Amino acid sequence: MKLSLVFVTVLLCLSLVRTHAKCTYIEEYCGTSASGVVVHWKWVNEAEGLIEWTFNNTGSKDASVILNRGATYNGAPLVPPYVFAAAYFPAYLYDGLAQYFYGKPVPLRNYQADYDLPIGMLDVDGHYWTVFVFTLAPGQVFRMEEGGYIYEGSNIFPYCQNVDDITYEGSGVFTVDYDVTTQCKEFDSTQPCPPKKFDVGSAYYSIKKGLVNSTNFWPSAGDKFEMNLCLAESNYGSMRKADGANIADVDRQQLAAISQQVKSTVRSAKVSSDKRLKRIL
Ligand SMILES: *[C@@H]1O[C@H](CO)[C@@H](O)[C@H](O)[C@H]1NC(C)=O
Ligand SMILES: *[C@@H]1O[C@H](CO)[C@@H](O)[C@H](O)[C@H]1NC(C)=O
Repeated sequence: MKLSLVFVTVLLCLSLVRTHAKCTYIEEYCGTSASGVVVHWKWVNEAEGLIEWTFNNTGSKDASVILNRGATYNGAPLVPPYVFAAAYFPAYLYDGLAQYFYGKPVPLRNYQADYDLPIGMLDVDGHYWTVFVFTLAPGQVFRMEEGGYIYEGSNIFPYCQNVDDITYEGSGVFTVDYDVTTQCKEFDSTQPCPPKKFDVGSAYYSIKKGLVNSTNFWPSAGDKFEMNLCLAESNYGSMRKADGANIADVDRQQLAAISQQVKSTVRSAKVSSDKRLKRIL
């Protein structure tokens, strides 16, 4: 219902473009975290499939959030929701869009909309995943563009699952083992990719149980993020290991099946945060 309204709005907007020289795109509501970070999106350029996300911390404290979103096509689900950065994070590391940060999160700076956006490790039911960490001071507004909202020549629309608070737990050294083909080469076959397996220092975060689950990281099904407990600078290391022992292993086969299903219908319509897209077009 809401999505078809969005579609109508955009069509209206397009016809306005034809008759009037100017059209102001309407901001669509995405979601609000418990801490009060409100997220909206709007088109920047439909022909390029480029949107802009706006994060607005209306709360009274610094807050770190993740964005869990997918995409719809003609009002129907197309890309199942996943947490922003779960797809293509290794490519982002090498094209300068993202970087793992060590230590307590600090509020984003404006230049980070263009490069070096913080990514970090999120512990979900005893397993780590890589996510964009959006940290905002009270009253702060942060904007970033995201490309890729095009599928077979038509626009697809962000579908917001939720905006969730995450909590800094510590920093450590992680070994990342990722799928080079799906997570890097597919994004850009011309750019170099990080080694399949690499060590990196990163902050790690927790999230309230039940807000996200492993399904929300399906593009990252073939990846592993292991904390190096010998090198980890944290008091949580040994405790976490014990916690993890009781938790069922992530069903990576199931995640890979979702990934495969999406790929066969969607091909590479995984939405991507591609600042180069903007430069090339
Ligand atoms: C951010 O939220 C505040 C409080 O609701 C509001 O007054 C302000 O206009 C918002 N800013 C933007 C850019 O959306
Ligand atoms: C995982 O999260 C999705 C929402 O993104 C939800 O539809 C699904 O039911 C959840 N699965 C489990 C096992 O909780």
